[in-house]
Amino acid sequence: MNYISDVSEGYHPFAPDASQPKRQASVLITGGAGFLGSWLCHRYIEKGYRVYCLDNLSTGRMANVADLIPHARFHFIKHDVVRPVSLPGPVSLIYNMACPASPPRYQADPIQTMRTSVSGAINLLELALTHGARILQASTSEVYGDPAISPQQESYHGNVNTIGPRSCYDEGKRAAETLFHDYHLCRGVDIRIARIFNTYGPGMDPDDGRVVSNFITQALRGAPITIYGTGAQTRSFCYRDDLVEGLIALMHCPRGLSAPVNIGNPEEFTIAALAEKVLALTGARSRISYMPLPQDDPCQRCPDISTARAQLNWQPRVSLAEGLKQTLAYFRTTAPLDGRKSQVAI
Ligand SMILES: NC(=O)c1ccc[n+]([C@@H]2O[C@H](COP(=O)([O-])OP(=O)(O)OC[C@H]3O[C@@H](n4cnc5c(N)ncnc54)[C@H](O)[C@@H]3O)[C@@H](O)[C@H]2O)c1
Repeated sequence: MNYISDVSEGYHPFAPDASQPKRQASVLITGGAGFLGSWLCHRYIEKGYRVYCLDNLSTGRMANVADLIPHARFHFIKHDVVRPVSLPGPVSLIYNMACPASPPRYQADPIQTMRTSVSGAINLLELALTHGARILQASTSEVYGDPAISPQQESYHGNVNTIGPRSCYDEGKRAAETLFHDYHLCRGVDIRIARIFNTYGPGMDPDDGRVVSNFITQALRGAPITIYGTGAQTRSFCYRDDLVEGLIALMHCPRGLSAPVNIGNPEEFTIAALAEKVLALTGARSRISYMPLPQDDPCQRCPDISTARAQLNWQPRVSLAEGLKQTLAYFRTTAPLDGRKSQVAI
């Protein structure tokens, strides 16, 4: 059994600290059955926390947390964050990860996506207020829209369309950041905001339409690799484990860090270069199929992570080559490659 200090002391060591008063630590992870949330659940169970994993299973999969189900400190709650949230016990940390992250999934029901970000944020901030918990919002590089500057610093206000196909996600996340900021200012809630850049790794749903999973599944199926546009647009890809360690460092940072922090890998690749890497790694002979670029697709995305480096002493460690190798191994052994057609890759 593991213990941490009381949340009211304002310090949340991830590792137990013997000098602090003892009380069992509990964490709520919304979207806990998703790609990133499920890895957070694993990390907190490993560290001795009681973990409440809350998810409506719209894009998440029980397979991601199946090994945790028998664990006495793991509790799964099927719930939609659009409705008010209550818990059976106290909680000192809340990660708000609930929201579909891939464009085909969040565009399938844009109103629900917006409600998830906005009503979900309010419901979880109210819960944080009730429990005196620190709360971290999974925000996104999409708040920068199609950025006019690169790399993107946190001070950049973005270039976002309010009425495009991506707006439900981008504007929902921007509104959630505003709500977090205002609950901090007006009600004193202890907040953290992580602006997450493209992340990949084991646990991704092979068919949810993200570029890394699309390319790998297409290569493994011997299908054409679909590139939208010329492939000259850039992305920077962060490996799951690096990203989650960044979130944990932000959550547990003893300094009050209520302003948004970029968490991602600053190494930038073109989509065409990513396709080449996947083809070389898989040995597939798939041809490249070029399709029109979707509306509002960002031309470039690269985080400036100097805040995370300076304030959290965090930076990514896993190279794209190594991360792709791990992801490919997962897709080869675990992921259900059932032949469903992949959708738009971003
Ligand atoms: N993976 C990335 O590259 C990336 C990049 C930027 C931001 N993010 C953010 O990180 C978070 C997690 O992303 P992910 O990649 O794990 O996505 P994911 O789709 O795998 O996980 C999201 C989880 O949230 C759940 N969910 C969705 N709507 C919900 C609702 N209304 N109530 C309860 N649960 C709900 C889904 O069932 C799923 O388990 C999201 O908030 C996403 O916006 C991810």
